[in-house]
Amino acid sequence: MALVNENYLKLVAGYLFPEIARRVSAFAAERPDLAKEIIRCGIGDVTEPLPPSAVAAMNAANAELASRATFKGYGPGTGYESVLAAIAHGDFRSRGLDIADDEVFLSDGSKGDCGNILEILGAGNRIAVTDPVYPAYVDSNVMFGNAGAAMAGGGYEGIVYLPCTEANAFLPELPAAGTAAPDVIYLCSPNNPTGTVMDRARLEQWVAYARKHRALIFWDAAYEAFNRDPNAPKSVYEIAGARECAIEFRSFSKSGGFTGVRCGYTVLPKSVMAYTRAGAAVALHPLWNRRWNTRSNGVSYAVQRGAEALYTEAGRREVRALVDFYMENARILREGCRALGWKTWGGENAPYVWCKTPEGRDSWGFFDTMLREARVVTTPGAGFGRCGEGYFRISAFNSRANVEEVVRRMGRLASCAAH
Ligand code: MLT
Repeated sequence: MALVNENYLKLVAGYLFPEIARRVSAFAAERPDLAKEIIRCGIGDVTEPLPPSAVAAMNAANAELASRATFKGYGPGTGYESVLAAIAHGDFRSRGLDIADDEVFLSDGSKGDCGNILEILGAGNRIAVTDPVYPAYVDSNVMFGNAGAAMAGGGYEGIVYLPCTEANAFLPELPAAGTAAPDVIYLCSPNNPTGTVMDRARLEQWVAYARKHRALIFWDAAYEAFNRDPNAPKSVYEIAGARECAIEFRSFSKSGGFTGVRCGYTVLPKSVMAYTRAGAAVALHPLWNRRWNTRSNGVSYAVQRGAEALYTEAGRREVRALVDFYMENARILREGCRALGWKTWGGENAPYVWCKTPEGRDSWGFFDTMLREARVVTTPGAGFGRCGEGYFRISAFNSRANVEEVVRRMGRLASCAAH
């Protein structure tokens, strides 16, 4: 008898973004006359073409594959040396951070890595996430058996939720002294969904906490390229001691427009340890290396070349222009919401604007109003956790024309509501 992974049976409803897509399709089927007017600012999916340097590099790589003389078969499981070197130098060593080429592991994106990394950890770790939170962290942990049953008001038993609210400016605070310390702490900055960035002092507290409790920090820096706040670390390794306790996840999805291309990476320093039940320290780097070489043959050749091209001088300029473009969208959305008297967070160092729903509306109710009356798709805050109730997220990943139209339509919605 084949046994099923019963952890999957604990998962509540659908994953957030498919549920949004389902509601949008239902509306489009009901009102085909309005379907073409729908503007999608829900899932953070890029709209602008790839940086030309990446396209040229991928085309050249494909041409290599077409010739017997330059053909490539299997590559190294964790990435070609030149790509790893470009990343380790470009994102870390050039910023004074001590990361070796072989501490970088290339993958098809950070969403998978944030869950796959659990494979090299033991069962029964106590997992801490912020609330609201990017739902993939929680669902992956449910699948791996690190959570209990779903709770009536949302969330799962056994997961430690770190409330992020207006009162703490949506930044997670250390668990109260005397409470059981988590073993793994997911932190995301710039934050998805709230768009807030964690300041250096707070991250120092978290690193000290993790070291004291022999816990791990999973630092999701997928939106690092949008962070221009000099007081907010771009990498966790800017903090002394992080090389002992932190694993960093990065992605080219948003910085390089790679949501469809698929490429990201994990940094796992050789000094990061986890422990056997008997208390012996074990370096995680060899385990993650082993896991990669057993379970995957890595990222496709052309994609690796495309990612590497983002680190050339031209590639960097193009990435900067792409990020600038989306950040201007974020500014337009943020100011548009504020002009209507809606309270916002984020959108300054992140491509997401986190907004309080007007008149205390509930998240899904306001989502439906925005969809049906303004034909704008947002993401309901409640989909990210209990503390997200009463908020919604707008993604800045869209064309300029669409973003300006979203602001006009929100204005019309607000003025109709006022009359
Ligand atoms: C989001 O909208 O939160 C992200 O695009 C989802 C993702 O990166 O997987």
